[in-house]
Amino acid sequence: MKSLIVYCSDYKKNTEKIAQIFAEKVDSDLKNIKEINDINLEVYDLVGFGSGVYKESMSPKVFKLVEKLNLKGKNVFVFSTSGMGMKFYNNRLIKLLESKGAINKGSFSCKGNFKASEFTNIKIFNIMSRLSQGHPSDKDMKKAEKFIVKVANSL
Ligand SMILES: Cc1cc2nc3c(=O)[nH]c(=O)nc-3n(C[C@H](O)[C@H](O)[C@H](O)COP(=O)(O)O)c2cc1C
Repeated sequence: MKSLIVYCSDYKKNTEKIAQIFAEKVDSDLKNIKEINDINLEVYDLVGFGSGVYKESMSPKVFKLVEKLNLKGKNVFVFSTSGMGMKFYNNRLIKLLESKGAINKGSFSCKGNFKASEFTNIKIFNIMSRLSQGHPSDKDMKKAEKFIVKVANSL
């Protein structure tokens, strides 16, 4: 099985940590979206797309790239890190991938630490920020390993 993982991790490299775990575990090619001009997906059996969550959304860079790709019949999965760590942030990208004919094989999310004062003064973010410290944690990494093995075995 040949796989590729594409990620955007512009804030604190939280998503990059998860992408690296995936790549090591199933021996994938790993690409920061910043380095991508054009990619040929034909050689890959599985492609993962990941991003940090910025203002309620995965990075627009990921959506822009996915719009351009030929994904018909391609096995894909989606992952994100966010202050909340919620999987629902992945749903919009999954919808787009599926609308392009891709086959979604899984969705992974975990918390990624952030500092509220760096981008907002809304109080609730202070609490979220405190809860996000230390993430991705060792436990998050273990969950990520389990996830990618399950995805790979499902092909
Ligand atoms: C500008 C900005 C906006 C953010 N907005 C959200 C958000 O809406 N919801 C959330 O759960 N986390 C939010 N976060 C926290 C990030 O999703 C979290 O730190 C993530 O792990 C960053 O990933 P990265 O280090 O891979 O870029 C935000 C962080 C930044 C810097």
